[in-house]
Amino acid sequence: MKTGWLVVNHFLQTNKFTDLYDRLKKGAKQAGLSLLVKTGCDLLNEISSGFLKEQEKPDFVLFWDKDVRLAKALENMGIRVYNSAKAIEICDDKSLTHQSLAGVVPMPKTVIAPMTYESVGYTDLSFVETVGEALGYPMIIKECFGSFGAQVYLVHTLEEAKEKVKSLAGTPFLFQKFIAPSSGRDIRLQVVGEKVIAAMLRYSETGDFRAGITSGGSMKPYEPTKEQRELAVLVCKTLGLDFAGVDFLFGENDEPILCEVNSNAHFKNLYDCTGVDAAAAIMEHIADKLEGRA
Ligand SMILES: Nc1ncnc2c1ncn2[C@@H]1O[C@H](COP(=O)(O)OP(=O)(O)O)[C@@H](O)[C@H]1O
Ligand SMILES: [Mg+2]
Repeated sequence: MKTGWLVVNHFLQTNKFTDLYDRLKKGAKQAGLSLLVKTGCDLLNEISSGFLKEQEKPDFVLFWDKDVRLAKALENMGIRVYNSAKAIEICDDKSLTHQSLAGVVPMPKTVIAPMTYESVGYTDLSFVETVGEALGYPMIIKECFGSFGAQVYLVHTLEEAKEKVKSLAGTPFLFQKFIAPSSGRDIRLQVVGEKVIAAMLRYSETGDFRAGITSGGSMKPYEPTKEQRELAVLVCKTLGLDFAGVDFLFGENDEPILCEVNSNAHFKNLYDCTGVDAAAAIMEHIADKLEGRA
């Protein structure tokens, strides 16, 4: 039996996360794989020596964390990591996602904020005027690293934009055109191994522009169009993802506009909504790859 490590964050042990780990372990069993949970702290010895004897090496690592340095260290020891360190890194940083997919899929017009240092701050805010003229108001300001909608802001005026920019000094972020027809709704397509296995529509009835469940939104199963499916698979192929949650906004004529890509998409909501078990599909995909079937 092939053995893998499920590498998770040592400090995220709330039920929200441990339930995901349990589901992955169950999926592994169904796929005929054994899966051992390890955290970055459990692996400190291995990582600091940079060496593992062949017989101590797992056949694969399922990396359910965003600690890309740890993922890279495991790859450097010759272990196959799903998703790869590079793919996780690109998805985690929304500016890298944007740059990696430019010209490949439609995305909202985006301006990556000029960098400053926290100790220096934004001593000149005139660039915000230029951005406002290019993108119009309201405008989205989004931190490069964030999740659950908590680091995404909608600003309505130049003054509001400048205030937000000032408060983000030292934090990488970007400006983005607000896709108004999509306000309060988006879709999540779950891709595993070049296939869309399930999708859901997320919508907010609270007036929040963010469609996510954590922002108070609701969800229902969604039947994606051929175009949406093909774009989601293309995104994963381009970024080298074995699996991901690919999110689209709706343009003027409902055309898909990529919002973001989640390399470690939480699959509980998807399961509750559609009954599709992404954890099982992911483990089956890994088993297929290990056996040379995919
Ligand atoms: N450019 C945009 N135009 C309209 N709505 C957006 C835009 N960007 C994000 N949103 C909304 O905000 C939500 C959170 O943004 P997202 O980029 O997915 O960040 P997070 O990683 O926090 O989920 C999205 O699900 C979507 O509903
Ligand atoms: Mg999102």
